[in-house]
Amino acid sequence: MNAEEMKRSAAARAAELVRDGMRLGLGTGSTARHFVAIVGEKVRAGLKVVCVPTSEATRMQAEAEGIPLTTLDETPALDLTVDGADELDDSLRLIKGGGGALLREKIVAAASRRMVVIADSSKRVDVLGRFPLPIEVNPFGLRATQEAIAQVLARRWPSASLTLRRGADGNPFVTDGGHYILDAALQRIEEPEALAGELVAIPGVVEHGLFLGLASGAIIATEQGLVELGELG
Ligand code: A5P
Repeated sequence: MNAEEMKRSAAARAAELVRDGMRLGLGTGSTARHFVAIVGEKVRAGLKVVCVPTSEATRMQAEAEGIPLTTLDETPALDLTVDGADELDDSLRLIKGGGGALLREKIVAAASRRMVVIADSSKRVDVLGRFPLPIEVNPFGLRATQEAIAQVLARRWPSASLTLRRGADGNPFVTDGGHYILDAALQRIEEPEALAGELVAIPGVVEHGLFLGLASGAIIATEQGLVELGELG
């Protein structure tokens, strides 16, 4: 199986969790894209669901698929969110935000009774941190916020680098919420809970890509087949 086939197989398993009448969160990224496509097929075959997309990209895909959409204002509690991840460990702690959608992804996951992660086996790690941690910041006071983050990181990662994410045009990447992203290359995050607490305490930090205590289950596609972690049902 190639990477796309693995992603598709994890997405297809997650789609088996979807029932008529569910309120769903739709994730963002190349793996979640498969899930949205499969939900679209099921909707066209008669499935009744309402969905909250976690990004403008997913909203556009879902609209094109004919999936009925709602908002967290209309529908503040969801039954299930299915989303990808940049990394996950065996405790279902995640790094997300490689695609820049972490803020909406986290709000939607937190509003969901269950969040199931779909990923290929390359995302599974023993210790989080190989993937640079995305930190979403308000553009106002960028330099001051960046220095405050760097000070927090320097306590445990003296050589950590913090890079402003840029788009293909060289300009700062702007999230759906109008914010910037700083990517922190940390290699190993031994105590993600401690780091998460320190980051959210910095004014100017809007959100970070550590998803802790949010995922209830995971479906990981490997060459040998699907591996399930946590609770899917
Ligand atoms: C989007 O901001 C991210 O959190 C994605 O969910 C994550 O990057 C996984 O994306 P892929 O499925 O494309 O690897």
